[in-house]
Amino acid sequence: MSIAKPVLDVLIRRPQAVPPVWFMRQAGRYLPEYRELRARAGSFLDLCFTPELAAEVTLQPIRRFGFDAAILFSDILVVPHALGRSVTFEAGEGPRLEPLDDVAKLNALATQADERVFAPVYEALGAVKAALPPNVALLGFCGAPWTVATYMVAGRGTPDQAPARILAYREPEGFARMIDILTETSSRYLVAQLKAGADAVQIFDTWAGVLPPAEFARWAVAPVRRIVENVRREIPDAKIIAFPRGAGASLGAYVDQVAVDAVSIDWTAEPSFVRARIQNRIAVQGNLDPLVLLAGGTALDRAVDDVIESYGKGPLIFNLGHGILPQTPIAHVEQTLRRIRGR
Ligand code: CP3
Repeated sequence: MSIAKPVLDVLIRRPQAVPPVWFMRQAGRYLPEYRELRARAGSFLDLCFTPELAAEVTLQPIRRFGFDAAILFSDILVVPHALGRSVTFEAGEGPRLEPLDDVAKLNALATQADERVFAPVYEALGAVKAALPPNVALLGFCGAPWTVATYMVAGRGTPDQAPARILAYREPEGFARMIDILTETSSRYLVAQLKAGADAVQIFDTWAGVLPPAEFARWAVAPVRRIVENVRREIPDAKIIAFPRGAGASLGAYVDQVAVDAVSIDWTAEPSFVRARIQNRIAVQGNLDPLVLLAGGTALDRAVDDVIESYGKGPLIFNLGHGILPQTPIAHVEQTLRRIRGR
């Protein structure tokens, strides 16, 4: 007899009396056991590409909190790394890549990823799968082409993704070539993650919300739509969550065009709009403000109740509206889980 995974039940639009819960970036620096292992691992990419360590870090928040989903520990920037771009993570500074900032560099980008780079990721998925309690879903992921491209172009995080937006306006054909390469590579990467044991995958488009409507359609909607089509051609019942952060009122058109099983929404979402336009069709995931989780207290209890009151009657996976912040007290995570689960 197979044991149900509540996250997968929600993805087929079966609301749960108590919503299943996991947090974006649930493995990370707010956990002392993560910081300890991270210090021993060497570089961040060494951690991502050592299957035993990546699996161990993935499991840490499951053991501590009993989340309903484990998300594979890795990063969206392993894809540019596999395309031959240099990627490093400086302690406390975030990612650094060699900038891809003119049309000659765009046109010289490799069309094929070095697939061997991904082998440890699939191995880590297998190891996590074998260790997880049967009711816990295993999630794989990739970055959406637009968000990955913004880091590839700028070579680092920027407040408004201006370098990629400018390059896309100036060199639309070269930029489209890069987006196509990321789309095809990411499609194959997700298929392989699902074959390696992921129960579902999430596509992170953290920077979708900085685009005007026409660019949103071209760079955020179209590539993710193609990834979903490509993945489903290989695995027709693949379960896919998209996180087009900041999509706002464009979320309706997004779910009309991108046939995902759920969208992850941020804390600025308007509940009546989301219920009527999104949750009537697919599941929603979200959308607690990471800052209220950090703040704690009665504001946190109220905010948890608000998410459940807003979305809990329909298919809901409780999550944050973006990743957990490193300064978040562990006690606030525990408080949130008690509040959701009623004990
Ligand atoms: O969610 C999880 O627990 C799984 C692991 C995961 C990481 N990054 C680990 C990580 C996931 C799903 C990501 C996704 C990711 N990576 C995104 C999309 C989601 C989002 O948060 O917006 C983006 C934009 C990246 C790129 C990236 N990686 C940035 C901008 C940074 C620096 C910012 C930061 O938080 O330090 C990273 C580094 C990173 N990725 C860390 C972790 C745990 C911290 C690095 C460290 O431990 O030194």
